[in-house]
Amino acid sequence: MSKPVPKTPEEIKEMRIACRLAAEVLDYIAPFVQVGVTTGELDRLCREYMEKMQHTVSATLNYAPPGYSPYPASICTSLNHQVCHGIPGEKPLKKGDILNIDVTIISQAGFYGDTSRMFIIGDASILAKRLCQVTYECMWLGIATVRPGGYLGDIGHAIQRHAEGNGFSVVREFCGHGIGRRFHEEPQVLHYGSLSTGIELRPGMIFTIEPMINAGKAAISELPDGWTIVTRDRSLSAQWEHTVLVTEDGVEVLSLSAACPLPPKLLTGTLATSTANAIAALPPAPIYELQR
Ligand code: MF3
Ligand code: CO
Ligand code: CO
Repeated sequence: MSKPVPKTPEEIKEMRIACRLAAEVLDYIAPFVQVGVTTGELDRLCREYMEKMQHTVSATLNYAPPGYSPYPASICTSLNHQVCHGIPGEKPLKKGDILNIDVTIISQAGFYGDTSRMFIIGDASILAKRLCQVTYECMWLGIATVRPGGYLGDIGHAIQRHAEGNGFSVVREFCGHGIGRRFHEEPQVLHYGSLSTGIELRPGMIFTIEPMINAGKAAISELPDGWTIVTRDRSLSAQWEHTVLVTEDGVEVLSLSAACPLPPKLLTGTLATSTANAIAALPPAPIYELQR
């Protein structure tokens, strides 16, 4: 297992673009995520937006790591008890569903941007809404630990503590990952762990934080389609994902966009303020329009 190589300033510039492009796909699709739409339709819309508007390509379409069949869609759509890697299909969404949409794009310069959000369809149960909210808080509490001289284990510790403190559980089999010119790089970012363990964080490292949190037990299974991961006990599962950069004095969230949700209320301090300011300062026009 090799150590992560910090990105150069030029690579960081390109990763800012790639991650914002990924976030803008979520901004674009959000208004379509409604009762009655199928995840297959959301997939087709996202693909068209990526290819025709952004001139990006989906990193997931035909993605085939060793031992996997090629992933058949341009986004992942994980519904209710699906944990991750759900394959879009032709069943309409119904009121009360919770849906994760995970977008990874490859920019024209060849860099990967990866981010995901939860969507609540119509209204959902109190449990479902609380799971989505607590998982969002988990991601941000993890992000807030990131600083040069900090440790990878600090991230997992913060996430696990908040998830389990709320009676939920952390999926162990999938983790965040370094990202850059490749989809999955070093390091592996576990969503559970202990303070001051794992590798030390250095400026220029870029990785995702993407906790998968279950309402029931942590155990998962894989469906016969070879991709979709579900909770073994069929309890609800939620996930949020941002790509982040370790800066000289803290952390920068790269996958922000004009319409992305603000940090949760429970996050106080400079990161909450600087992120809210950064989102407010983003021009509403998509990044590809600004670059023409
Ligand atoms: N976007 C996912 C991640 O956060 C990976 C999806 S791989 C796929 O790492 F093939 F399932 F799309
Ligand atoms: Co990821
Ligand atoms: Co992702």
